[in-house]
Amino acid sequence: MSVIHEGGTLGAVYTDAKGKIIDVSQSFCDHFLENKESWLGGFIHQFIHEQEADREIIAGQIGDVACLFRMVEQSECRVYYVLLRIDEVDRRNFKDWVARNYAAFRAKREKSASAMSEIIGRSEVLVNVKELAAKIATSDSTVLLSGESGTGKELFAQAIHESSSRSNHPFVAVNCVAIPDELFESEIFGYEAGAFSGAKKGGKPGKVELAQHGTLFLDEISELSYLSQGKLMRVLQEREVERLGGTHSVNVDIRVIAATNKNLQQLVQAGKFREDLFYRLYVFDLHIPSLRERKEDLMTLAYTFIEHFNHMLGRDVENITPKLESQMLAYDWPGNVRELRAFIERGMNITEGSWLEHEHVSFSTVANHPTAVGVVESSNTHQRLDEIVQSVEKEAIQRALKIAGGDRSKAAIQLGIHLSSLYRKMTKYKID
Ligand SMILES: Nc1ncnc2c1ncn2[C@@H]1O[C@H](COP(=O)(O)OP(=O)(O)OP(=O)(O)O)[C@@H](O)[C@H]1O
Ligand SMILES: [Mg+2]
Repeated sequence: MSVIHEGGTLGAVYTDAKGKIIDVSQSFCDHFLENKESWLGGFIHQFIHEQEADREIIAGQIGDVACLFRMVEQSECRVYYVLLRIDEVDRRNFKDWVARNYAAFRAKREKSASAMSEIIGRSEVLVNVKELAAKIATSDSTVLLSGESGTGKELFAQAIHESSSRSNHPFVAVNCVAIPDELFESEIFGYEAGAFSGAKKGGKPGKVELAQHGTLFLDEISELSYLSQGKLMRVLQEREVERLGGTHSVNVDIRVIAATNKNLQQLVQAGKFREDLFYRLYVFDLHIPSLRERKEDLMTLAYTFIEHFNHMLGRDVENITPKLESQMLAYDWPGNVRELRAFIERGMNITEGSWLEHEHVSFSTVANHPTAVGVVESSNTHQRLDEIVQSVEKEAIQRALKIAGGDRSKAAIQLGIHLSSLYRKMTKYKID
C-alpha cells in the first residue's frame, strides 16, 4: 500500500546540525503510530538509507515503512519532511522503489517550478503581474489579489503557493461568500467534540489548522460580515487559534492570500470593511488585469482552450474563422477568462469540423456586445433596418481597423472580407 500525500506532508522530524533528533511533529507521530519520547535523542541517520544526487530528497525507512524525506536547512535546525510512505516494502526492491518514486517527486517539483507558466498570456500587463507574483512567492507576506471575476485570481493564488517554500504543505481555499456569521468560527477555527449540539463526534479542524505550514486562500474576502472580519483579524494578529470548546490554542504558521473583485478601499471608506483588516491584507496588492485590457492574450488563450477541449471531447478543431475571431476581438468579455473558456467549450460541443465558426457559438451577454449595442441603443427606434445594419457595419470596420493598428489587410482578415471589399466599404462610410 502506498500513500502519496499530495497537499501536505506526513509530518516532520527536526534535528540539530549533527542529525540528533530534537523534535518530531504530531502528524509524524500520528502517521507512524509512535510516541514522541521514543524518538527524541535518536539520530536521523538510523532512518536514512541513501541520499540521492539531488541532496534535498532522501530515501529512508522507518520500521517496515519506506519513506522519502525532503531535507530543509533552517538557521537553528534541519527539518526532514516525510513526503511519502510505502508500507511493507520488500527490502530487495527498495532501490527500484526509490528510483521510481524519486522520479515522481522530481516531476512534481518541476511542475511546481513551472506553476507560473501555466498562467497563459504574453501581454505586457500580464507578464508584469506574473513577474511580480513570482517575486512575491518567495516571501511570506500577505497578498491581496484584486481583479474582476474570472480574471484568474485563484489561479494566481495557487501559482504563488506552488512557487513558494510552502508548496509541500496544503493550499486551503475558503470561499467567504459561503460562510454565514454563525458558522464562521466553527469553519475557520474548528471545534472539539461536544462543543455544541450537532457538532461532529470527533470534533473538526478549522481551515486555519488545515492550512498549517501552507497557504490559506480567502476568496471574496469582501463578503465577510463586519463581525467575522473582526474574528479573522484576531487570528491574523495573534497568530494562534483555539478550536471552539477547546482548552488550548495552537500556533498558526500560515501564509494568507486574499482575493476580491470589489474595491476594498472604497468599502473601507463606506464603513463596510474593517480598516485594520484592510491594512493587514494590503501588504502586496496584485491587480490582475481584465481580459479586455489585454486583448493580445485573447487568441492565445482561445487556442489553449481549444487544445484542451480537443483532448477532452475528442474533437479536431484547428482554427477559428476570421469572422468569429473579429467578433471575439470586438466583444468585451465581462466574465473574462472564465467566460472565454465556457464560450469555447460550448462551441466545441457543437462543431464537428476543424473550424470553429460563429454559428457554433453565442456571446452570452448580448447587452455587452459592443458592436451591436453601442449603435442599437443609441439609435432612434424609428430607424430603418438597413440604416441600423449600415451603422453597425461601419462601427465594426472602425473597430477592426483600430484593433489591427490601422493595418488594412489585417482588419480585412479579421472581418472575414476581401481587402478590396474593405476599401469599398471604407469609401462608402468615409472612413480613412
Ligand atoms: N491566464 C490564464 N491562463 C489560463 N487559464 C486561465 C487564466 N486565467 C484564468 N484562467 C482560467 O479561467 C477560469 C477562471 O479563473 P479563476 O477561477 O482563477 O478566476 P477568479 O479571478 O478567481 O474568478 P472569481 O472572481 O469569479 O472567483 C479558471 O478555469 C482558470 O483556470
Ligand atoms: Mg475565484
